[in-house]
Amino acid sequence: MAELKIEFFGSPALRRKAKEVVEIDDELRTLIAGMYEAMYEAEGVGLAGPQVGVSKRVLVIDVKEEAHPRFTLINPKIVDLGKETEKDEEGCLSIPGVSALVERFTTVTVEALDEHGQPFRLEAEGLLARCIQHEVDHLDGVLFIDHLSALKRSMLVKKYKSTQAEEASGSRDRPPARRSG
Ligand code: NI
Repeated sequence: MAELKIEFFGSPALRRKAKEVVEIDDELRTLIAGMYEAMYEAEGVGLAGPQVGVSKRVLVIDVKEEAHPRFTLINPKIVDLGKETEKDEEGCLSIPGVSALVERFTTVTVEALDEHGQPFRLEAEGLLARCIQHEVDHLDGVLFIDHLSALKRSMLVKKYKSTQAEEASGSRDRPPARRSG
């Protein structure tokens, strides 16, 4: 399979609602393998199908916590969001070079299928809970900047565009994608 390319802000692929996966077959598993590759290459902690231009409800996540090795979520559904929220720094592989404080639920329960079609349920907190909410948003065409006020969002988009322009001119290195998904 050709190497997957990450779609960047402005791409219509990021705004489409992704379709449910009907068949979990080798073709899908090849896509998933490519998604892990693309995520690690970009040094991210999560990646969703739409971010590689594939309108399927598939996520790969690796927040590099010992208790939670990398895992795949197919057709994920958030079934519980807990009660508390917190703000923390968040970035996105599709909007590289910028980040913002985003309010998310601190705990989340998700149900999904793994790459073998086995259903599982996971209760997550902290960074993992944040990452799951960020990635499930991608499946619905939602980006982390949509959670910001209109003013903060437009400032961030402006910063992103100037960052991209600087990068294109070669005057700036891309900062690490810590906590981006
Ligand atoms: Ni993202």
